[in-house]
Amino acid sequence: MPVNEPGHPLSSAGEGRGEGRPQETVRGQDAPLTETMRDRVCLVTGANSGIGRATALALAQLGASAVMVCRDRERGAAAQAEIQSDSGSSRVDLLIADLSSQSSIRALSREIHARYGHLNVLINNAGGYLSKREASADGLETTFALNHLGYFLLTSLLLDLLRTGAPSRIVNVSSGSHVNAHIDFDDLQAEHSYHAWRAYGQSKLANVLFTYALARRLGGTGVTANAVHPGVVATNFGRSGGFMRFGLRIAGRFMLTPEEGADTVVWLATSGEVEGVTGKYYVKRKAVRSSPESRDQAVQERLWRVSEELTGLAGLAAGEPPPV
Ligand SMILES: NC(=O)c1ccc[n+]([C@@H]2O[C@H](COP(=O)([O-])OP(=O)(O)OC[C@H]3O[C@@H](n4cnc5c(N)ncnc54)[C@H](OP(=O)(O)O)[C@@H]3O)[C@@H](O)[C@H]2O)c1
Repeated sequence: MPVNEPGHPLSSAGEGRGEGRPQETVRGQDAPLTETMRDRVCLVTGANSGIGRATALALAQLGASAVMVCRDRERGAAAQAEIQSDSGSSRVDLLIADLSSQSSIRALSREIHARYGHLNVLINNAGGYLSKREASADGLETTFALNHLGYFLLTSLLLDLLRTGAPSRIVNVSSGSHVNAHIDFDDLQAEHSYHAWRAYGQSKLANVLFTYALARRLGGTGVTANAVHPGVVATNFGRSGGFMRFGLRIAGRFMLTPEEGADTVVWLATSGEVEGVTGKYYVKRKAVRSSPESRDQAVQERLWRVSEELTGLAGLAAGEPPPV
């Protein structure tokens, strides 16, 4: 649905959230979002499906320059063509990377640096639920490698472009499943025992811990970082098999659409209401208190150190660019 159509979450026309209100502005300016987002470079990972695809479409509809990161060229190109057609925008780029592989993330970062002088929005969204333990290309447990280290490494490598593009925003798509989760530093790679839901919850808790530690480090730079639970959304998530697929089939009709799931993600990436707001966890456009473990600064800092070691970023002096 085009962003200016009645019923779209960001619409100012007719029914829906925008009814009776002038179209929202960003950065405290008077221009509508479609003017202020024009040409802002917004990168979305996992943009060919589900929440990421709906997010990339909404950004393109707002006139932003949308950069889709997808792992499969064919699926990515099909989604890119649809997004270009549905948004009427030709400024929708496609980059290919396997975000569970650190060499692939480094190659992606090199390509982004070669193509773009700055970034205004980074949406870390690509993620997965694996019913069986799998080893990543780097020999790590893949849920952790993709859902957490993928966010950590890509963000670290792109921080210089985000600083150049400031004011800029990082949005980390986490999950309400972080609430009952725990970071098991004694078996982070689930080598001793693997439970899919536990590994997924741990990775989504890591997203929140990472967001808070990142926001602390970015204070005063004009780059904000927030985390979001998108709701329970009917996407391809968890369709790979097992109990999860069965549960999702039952729950399907009660779930949000991808567009509804993308609402808070897009709002965090664009809205003037959250200009300068950083280090928060959002559900349905409201900052809410995340789990006690996610707010534990010692856990945040321990995870940061471990993540630096696992991605080869440890020991860099402040301000030193990370190796790409
Ligand atoms: N759906 C929900 O109810 C829900 C709830 C809470 C949080 N979330 C979070 O929302 C985010 C998006 O999930 P979704 O629900 O939209 O699921 P989805 O439809 O399965 O989308 C996931 C996206 O991530 C991509 N991806 C998976 N592995 C990748 C890899 N190794 N490298 C690069 N990209 C990869 C997928 O690509 P392919 O299409 O090629 O597989 C797809 O584009 C995830 O972080 C998830 O944890 C979802």
